[in-house]
Amino acid sequence: RRQRQMCIRDRDIRSYIKTKKKIIDKALDGYLPSARTKPAELHKAIRYSVFSGGKRIRPVLTIACFEACNGRGNSILPVACAMELIHTYTLVHDDLPCMDDDDFRRGRSSCHKKFSEAIALLTGDALLTSGFQCLSGSGNIDIIREVAVAVGSQGTIGGQAVDIESRSANRVAHSVELDYIAGNKTAALFEAACKAGAIFSKAGKEKTRALGDFGKNLGMTFQMVDDLMDKDGYVKAYGEPRVKKMARLFTDRAKESLKIFGKSGEKLSEIAGLILLRKS
Ligand code: IPE
Ligand code: IPE
Ligand code: MG
Ligand code: MG
Repeated sequence: RRQRQMCIRDRDIRSYIKTKKKIIDKALDGYLPSARTKPAELHKAIRYSVFSGGKRIRPVLTIACFEACNGRGNSILPVACAMELIHTYTLVHDDLPCMDDDDFRRGRSSCHKKFSEAIALLTGDALLTSGFQCLSGSGNIDIIREVAVAVGSQGTIGGQAVDIESRSANRVAHSVELDYIAGNKTAALFEAACKAGAIFSKAGKEKTRALGDFGKNLGMTFQMVDDLMDKDGYVKAYGEPRVKKMARLFTDRAKESLKIFGKSGEKLSEIAGLILLRKS
């Protein structure tokens, strides 16, 4: 019976995510200039990068955190979409020849392969900028600051810098470095995405902090699972079994932060469970 109940829950949370994803995609489509807008090549590249089958996990988390704090309605969408626009910028730049030099992203040619390096660089710039334009629509300065810090030189960009540095040194990164990299290049935006949902719902300090912790720990899990799939990062340093154990530990920690939400935290807890088990 328990197993049956788990199956039903699993189906429910997957359909919740699917529904939110559709709403997010529609909103993103509305925010972005059409592919014919001048300069057309740039806008084509922007749309190519945003609509390419991303999981939309960050904006889904923003909405789910907003709802866990009793937020209702679509007013959260600009904030949620900003997370995806900013995330997509990090991917476009991450793939550039001067960074990871990846020819593929989300199962097709990366932006600079499909267009050009210059256009990919500018696409990233435009996505980051439009993310903050979207955030400004929320009229909430605390959210804008939170996200700016999270993706700045002591957040995502800092994590990317240390990642690149450790790879070019041609050695296996050590544990302090690995935690810095995952904590900043990935977990910082997860944390901000979750906190933004809480702040926008006008949740109090305690809930906002709890959802920040939730996002941070979930972001660590997310990067560990990514490393397990790529056999990279943590896996190179620690080996698979240990990283699997660590990923479970961080998921438990994330779920721990949800305690104060009681039943309202159930969806978030289920999303955390799916992130641990994800295969793509
Ligand atoms: C990939 O992020 C980059 C990492 C932080 C590991 P996602 O796995 O969320 O990428 P998409 O958006 O679903 O393609
Ligand atoms: C992706 O990191 C970029 C950011 C998290 C900012 P990775 O280089 O580890 O991820 P993939 O494998 O390219 O998606
Ligand atoms: Mg990288
Ligand atoms: Mg990469």
